[in-house]
Amino acid sequence: MGGNGQTLRYGRLCSLVYQLDKPIGTSFGDVEFYRERLAGVTGEILEPAVGTGRILVPLLRDGFRVRGFDASPQMLAICRENCAAYGLDPVLFEADMTVYREPAAFAAVVIPAGSFALVTGRENAVRALRNIRESLAPGGRLIVDVEPIERPAGPEPMGHWWHGEELITLTCHPGVDAGDRCQTSWCRYELWRDGVLVHTELEPFTLQRYDLAEFATLLGDAGFTDITIHSDYQAGQFPTTASKVWTFEATPA
Ligand SMILES: C[S@@+](CC[C@H](N)C(=O)[O-])C[C@H]1O[C@@H](n2cnc3c(N)ncnc32)[C@H](O)[C@@H]1O
Repeated sequence: MGGNGQTLRYGRLCSLVYQLDKPIGTSFGDVEFYRERLAGVTGEILEPAVGTGRILVPLLRDGFRVRGFDASPQMLAICRENCAAYGLDPVLFEADMTVYREPAAFAAVVIPAGSFALVTGRENAVRALRNIRESLAPGGRLIVDVEPIERPAGPEPMGHWWHGEELITLTCHPGVDAGDRCQTSWCRYELWRDGVLVHTELEPFTLQRYDLAEFATLLGDAGFTDITIHSDYQAGQFPTTASKVWTFEATPA
């Protein structure tokens, strides 16, 4: 927990593990797919929930003009370091998807890696999508990943990452299903020095799940039209419940 008693979200250890586990250069097929979907976009692109810049950095290196924001200062700090390592200096800022909007500013908004699921509750999701719709210029496009519902299989094997002489371990346990398609996992990050535990952070990850029709309806309610759905980062591939990821594309109505 943070010093003020608030729950950490992508705090120090969680952010460090994201970077160690998925450094710049890591792709799930999403980097190539988003690059392809954005081909020809010359206006500014916004990546909410930019994280460590895993997608932002390759897009910038490809010549796209991309700005990013994130709710976690720790993720943003790593993102700035990653950008600097590649000689990049993009606009990056701290903001929340459910609040931030910049009317008609962007040619495209991209939200890969299932990050939109971190916005929980239908009202918050519609609010975030409305902000994005308002932030798109006429003819602009939202491209957003949605991961199908999956049942937690039980506790996962412990993960570990070396950071110099320090070791970070991660154990995650599924929480009680909060209902309304919200799934929580309790993730405990521990930092060890010479075998001694020196720091612990607990991160509850609550993910909002959708089925295809639900998310399409949500997009419609937020003022989007011309909805296209791809699956598993294959353009035009028909989405099914067996898909690992669906990507929705939509334009402001
Ligand atoms: C899985 S990481 C994705 C990072 C990056 N987009 C990528 O593809 O690697 C999810 C990110 O979403 C951010 N996030 C979660 N809720 C958010 C919100 N409401 N507004 C902005 N960022 C948010 C987290 O802080 C975290 O950095």
